Amino acid sequence: MLIALLLAAAVVVSLPWWLPGRVVALRVRVFARINGDEGIPVPGDLVGIERFKEVYAHPAAGGRSRGAALSDVFWYWLSPGPEMHQEHLEAGERYESVARVTRGLLAVPRAEAEELTRRCAARTLNDARGLVRLRDLMMPLWAEFSYELVFAEPCPRAARDLIVGNASDVSASLKCTSLRHMERRHRLTRYLLTRLPEVRVPLPSGLSPLEQAFYLHGAFFTTAVVQMSEAMAHLLMVLAQHPGVQARARTDDAHYLDQVIAETLRLYPLFGIAHRITTAGIPLDEHTTIPAGSVLCFNYPEFHRAGFDDPGRFDPARFDPARVDRPAKDLNHIPFGIAANRPCPAWRLAPIVMRVAAWDVLRRYALHSSAAHTRSMPNRGPCLLTPLQAAGNVRAALLFMSFRDRWEDVWRSVVQLVLGTYMVWDARRKRLCEHYFDDPSENRHAHPGRRDRPGHAP
Ligand code: HEM
Repeated sequence: MLIALLLAAAVVVSLPWWLPGRVVALRVRVFARINGDEGIPVPGDLVGIERFKEVYAHPAAGGRSRGAALSDVFWYWLSPGPEMHQEHLEAGERYESVARVTRGLLAVPRAEAEELTRRCAARTLNDARGLVRLRDLMMPLWAEFSYELVFAEPCPRAARDLIVGNASDVSASLKCTSLRHMERRHRLTRYLLTRLPEVRVPLPSGLSPLEQAFYLHGAFFTTAVVQMSEAMAHLLMVLAQHPGVQARARTDDAHYLDQVIAETLRLYPLFGIAHRITTAGIPLDEHTTIPAGSVLCFNYPEFHRAGFDDPGRFDPARFDPARVDRPAKDLNHIPFGIAANRPCPAWRLAPIVMRVAAWDVLRRYALHSSAAHTRSMPNRGPCLLTPLQAAGNVRAALLFMSFRDRWEDVWRSVVQLVLGTYMVWDARRKRLCEHYFDDPSENRHAHPGRRDRPGHAP
C-alpha cells in the first residue's frame, strides 16, 4: 500500500517533466487527423531546404485562401470578416486597393514612428513592475500605436480596451488557451464602423462600410497588435534570460540591438507555417511538377534553423556584418516573409519601433525570467520587472516563477488539447472559407461575416 502511494506521489510530482510534451504531441496528431493530409511540407521530401526560397517566390505559389482546408481554420481564428483581412485576400483588384491603403498608413517617417512609440510607451508602461506577462504588458502599447497610425490622434482609454480585448482574444484562441469570444471582437468592429470617416487616409473605394471596418480590424487592430506584442514579448524574454545581452542592449548601440532583434526573430519566428495554394504547376525537374491546387506549407522555424551552426543557441553575432561571410539576403532568415510573395508590409517599420520600445523598457527596468521560452509562448512570457534603481535579490521570485510555470504547463497543455481539438473541429464544420468561395453569386461580398454567426452580423 505504502509503495503504491509513493509511486502515485512520484507520478504526480513528476507530471510537469513528462505530461506537457506528450499532450502537445497528441495535439499535433489530433490536428493532423482533423485537417487531413492536404499539405506539402516545405522543406520536405519533395522540396528540399535549398529550394525553399525559390518555390516560395514562384509566381504560381500565389493562392492565399481558396482551396485549402487549412484556410478554414485560419479564417475561424481570425474572424470576424476574415474575407477582408489583407493576408487572406486573393490577388486582384480588392487585394491591390487594400494593400495600397496599408502601405499608406504604414509609411510614417522614421523619426515620427520613433516619437510615436515613445509617447505610447510613456502612456502604457508607467505602472508596470513586479511579476508580469510580457505579451499582456505590450498589448496596450501597440493598441495605442496602431490607433494613432490609423486615426492620427491619441487613443482614448475605451478604444484601447476594445482593441486589447480583441487582440488578446485572438491571440489566446490561436494558442488554444481559450475559445473565441466573438462578442468581444464584434464590439471593436461596431466601434470602427462609427469611426470610418476619421481614418487619416482614404479607405479602399468599392468596399462597403462593413468591409472597410473588417479590413482595418484585421490588418491594424488584430495582425499589427498581435504580431508586435508577440515579437516584443520574445525580445524582452530573450533579454531577461541573457543578462550579458541585456546589459549591452541597454547602451544606445542601435546596431547591436538590431542583431538581437534579428536573432530573436530567427529563433522565434512569429509564423510557424505560412501556406500558399498553387495556381499553376511548379516544375521541380524534368520528372516532377507540383500540381496546380496543391497546398504548400512553408515551415519558418525549420528554415531558420538550417544553415546555422548550433541553430538552437541564441547568438546575436550571427547577424554581425563584421562576422558573417555572406550577404544578409543569403542567410536563411525571413522573419517578414519573402519579398517576391506578399511579404509583411511592416517589414521596415516593425524593427525600428521595436528597438525604441525595447530601450524604453530597458531604461526603466531590470528584466529577469526563469520561465520556459518557446516559439508559441502560451505562457505569455512571465517576467520579473524591477525598477533599475531598486534592483535587489530576485532569487526567491525566480524560484517561484519557475515552479509556477512548470505546473501551469501541466494544466495548460490539457486545456490546449481540449479547446484546440474543439476549435479545429468547429472550424472544419463551419468551413467559413470554403463556403465563401463556393457562393456562386457575383455578390458574395454583400454580407461579409454572416457565416461566422448567422443572424448576428455586427
Ligand atoms: C515584428 C512584427 C511582425 C512580423 C515578424 C511579421 C511577420 C509577417 C510575415 C512573415 C508575413 C508573411 C506571411 C506569408 O508569407 O504568408 C506577414 C504578412 C503580413 N503582415 Fe506582418 N509581421 C509583423 C508586424 C506587422 C504589422 C505591425 C502589421 C501592420 C499592419 C502587419 C501586417 C501584415 C499584413 C497585412 C500581412 C499580409 C501581407 C499580404 O498578404 O499582402 N504585420 N507578416
